[in-house]
Amino acid sequence: MRLVLLGPPGIGKGTQAQNLSEHFGVLKISTGDILREAVREKTPLGKEAKSYMERGALVPDEVVIGIIRDRLKKPDSQKGFLLDGFPRTVPQAEALSKMLLGFGWGLDRVVHFVLDEEILIQRLSGRRSCSTCTAVYHTKYNPPKEENRCDLCGGPLIHREDDHPETIQKRLQVYKTQTQPLVHFYQKLGLLTEIESSGDIPTVFQNVLGFLSKKKV
Ligand code: AP5
Repeated sequence: MRLVLLGPPGIGKGTQAQNLSEHFGVLKISTGDILREAVREKTPLGKEAKSYMERGALVPDEVVIGIIRDRLKKPDSQKGFLLDGFPRTVPQAEALSKMLLGFGWGLDRVVHFVLDEEILIQRLSGRRSCSTCTAVYHTKYNPPKEENRCDLCGGPLIHREDDHPETIQKRLQVYKTQTQPLVHFYQKLGLLTEIESSGDIPTVFQNVLGFLSKKKV
C-alpha cells in the first residue's frame, strides 16, 4: 500500500494515518513529526525549519524532498507507506513522482480529506499533542483519560506552537495557495479520492477503510 493523505491543517490526517498504520501494519511517514523532532533535538535541520514552522510557513521544498528521499531509501519503506503532510506543493509532488519511478513504485491512491473551515479551526484549537511520543488528542473530541497526560506513554501534553489563532489562519492561507493545487494535479492522474470528514474519528476511519476495500488497495 502506498498512499498520500492530503488535506488542510487540522482535518485529521495524522489521526487517520495512525489508525491506518495500526490497522494495516504499514509505515506512517509524517514530515510534520520528523521536522518537530528535529526542532526538539536542535539538529541543523531543526534549526533551519523552526522559524518557518513557528510562523505557519512551509519549510523549503528542497529540505523536505531530501527528508522523504532519505526516508524512502530505508528498508522499512519497501513494504509500503502512508505519507502524511507530504507532498504539499506541486514541486514536491513532481519530485515524489520521480523518486517513486526511480524505485519502480507507483502511488495507489491520494486520499483527499475535505471539511468546512470553521470545524478545522475547532479541531486545531482543541488539539493537544504528546511532547514525548507525538500521540494526538483533542480536549473535546478525543480527550486523554487523565487531563494533560498521554494515555500511551504518560508524557505531558502540549498545545502546539503553530496551533495559536494567528498561525492557524496563516497555515490555512498557505494551504489554499500552495497545497490546494495538488487536488488538480492528482485528479489529472486519476489518483484522487475525496473523503468528507465531518464525522467523528471512527466514522471517518470507516469511510476510508470502506473506500480502500472497494478499490482493493
Ligand atoms: P504538519 O504537522 O503536517 O501540520 P498540518 O498539515 O498543518 O496538519 P496538522 O498536523 O495540523 O493536522 P492533521 O490534519 O494531521 O490533524 P490531526 O490528526 O492532528 O506540519 C506542520 C508544519 O511543518 C507546517 O506548517 C510546515 O511548516 C512544516 N511542514 C510539514 N510538512 C511539510 C512539507 N511537506 N513541506 C513544507 N513544510 C512542511 O487532528 C487535529 C485535531 O482534530 C486533533 O486534536 C484530533 O484529535 C482532532 N480530530 C481528528 N479527526 C477528528 C474527527 N473526525 N472528529 C473530531 N476531531 C478530530
